[in-house]
Parts: sequence; structure tokens; C-alpha cells
Amino acid sequence: MASSDARRLSVSLVDVAAGHEGEFEAFSTHFAAILIRKEYGHADIVRDEALPLRHYVVRYWTDAAAAERCHRDPEVQALTARLYQVARVTHIVHGVGGRDRRSPLDDRRAHIDSDRRSGFDRRVEDVGRAEGDRRKADRRLGPRRLRDRAGDNDLIAAARRARENADAAYSHFKVGAALEAGDGSVITGCNIENATYGLTICAERVAMFKALSEGHRVFTRIAVVADTDAPTPPCGACRQILWEFGGNLEIELANLKESTGKHHLQDLLPLPFDARLL
Ligand code: THU
Repeated sequence: MASSDARRLSVSLVDVAAGHEGEFEAFSTHFAAILIRKEYGHADIVRDEALPLRHYVVRYWTDAAAAERCHRDPEVQALTARLYQVARVTHIVHGVGGRDRRSPLDDRRAHIDSDRRSGFDRRVEDVGRAEGDRRKADRRLGPRRLRDRAGDNDLIAAARRARENADAAYSHFKVGAALEAGDGSVITGCNIENATYGLTICAERVAMFKALSEGHRVFTRIAVVADTDAPTPPCGACRQILWEFGGNLEIELANLKESTGKHHLQDLLPLPFDARLL
């Protein structure tokens, strides 16, 4: 695979945040048009058959110089910045410039994501019972329960339920969190306090560490619930952990009655420190 052709191909995995599919489609069309108009090459955008919010953006560069010009192009950079607002982008193959172009973060994520197959091997034709229940084709079997669509989960309800398990004997401030993984799984967390106070861990980090320990590596959204009228946004430590492992997550805050606001993590953590800077 070290042929010159392979070096002219770049592939990125793009997990679009639920509800932003239309914007992603518009970006894709615009981006593909720029590549052709400026003779950088051309692009294919392939949708994952099992995960509707996941896409593979494949760029075929005219040559190495064209790829470089494209990366430096302000029009492309502006488009990419907007894409990052609505999607988590993992660069899988940097066709031009070889490994030198890869950031440490990309390397780590590409490595982690390399076994995240999309489930053809786990899909079965029909696991329903003969007498016609609704469990028809396109159900997937396997160690991970794959939902039909990331984005369909009632994350706030899950976070409210998780909050009930909070152990907040010192602050009496109970928090629940529900994190949605790229395959639609929901992993919950609640805050756990202890007698030293300082070893307290927030609901968001419990959810993220549980998810990571269960093998999840791609995340789309998190809901955080507390019993206060004012929103309870993640603390600084949680923002850092969510950023490093979840990227630009959508964060929905809520109390026991209603949603108190939606944000993107990059707005709550501007100028983040992460593995790209090491
Ligand atoms: N806490 C969370 O679990 N998440 C937040 O977003 C804010 C704070 C917890 C930590 C501690 O147990 C209690 O709330 C009071 O700070």
C-alpha cells in the first residue's frame, strides 16, 4: 500500500451530530465543488450503512502540491472550521506527506478506531420469532448493542434516572449524566463523593470513564441533569476529559422539569489543550 496512489488519498471519518445532517450535506457539496473548481482533486462522501450519522470523506488529490494548496486554502479552512461545529472528524489516512502530517491525537484516535467495524458481520437477516414480532431485518448481534440511530435516545430521561444513584452525602447536590456513543449506546453516570471530599468524581467523568472502559471511543452527545433552575454546566476538569475523549460533543443541560440549554463543547472550552499540542 505504499504506492504513490495510496499517498494521494486522504480519508476522514466524520460523525455528524444528530440534527445536523442537512448542514453536513451542504458542506460536502460545497467542499466537493471547491476541489474540482480549484483542481485540487475530487472527493467522495460515503455514508456508513450501519451508522447513518457516520460518513467517510475520501479525497483523491491531483498531486501532493495540490493537497498542500488545499490544506492552506482559506476557503477550505473556513469550511472545515464550520464542519467541526457539527461533526467529530477523525483523520484516518493522510495520503500526502505520510505520517509526518498526522497529529498525535489523530494517531491515537486512528489506532483506537481501527477495530470499530460497522457491523456487517454482526447483522442478521431476521432474528424475530416466526409469529411475526417486530424484530425484523437489520437487527445487529454482537457484544455491543447497536441502536438503530444515534440521536434517537432520550438522554435527559436517562440522566435523570442516573442522578437517582448519585452519592452526594457531603454537598447534597446530585447530578446525573447520560453519554451517547457513536453506535447509539447510552452510558450513564452520577456524582460520587467520599469522606476526603477531594476524591469526588462528577457525573460526566463517571459516564465517560465507564464508556471508555466498555470499549466505546466515539461519542455524539451528553446530557447533564441537576435539580436547580439554573443550568449545571460541566466543571473544568470534566470539560477537559470530555474534550479529549469525546471531541466537540453536544451538551444538553436540564433540570428535573425541562431542558436548560444546549451547547457545543468547543464553546465551553475555547483554546483547549490536548494531545495535538504535545
Ligand atoms: N458535580 C457534577 O457531578 N457535575 C457537574 O457538572 C457539577 C458538579 C458534582 C460534584 C460534586 O459531587 C457536587 O456536584 C457539588 O459540586
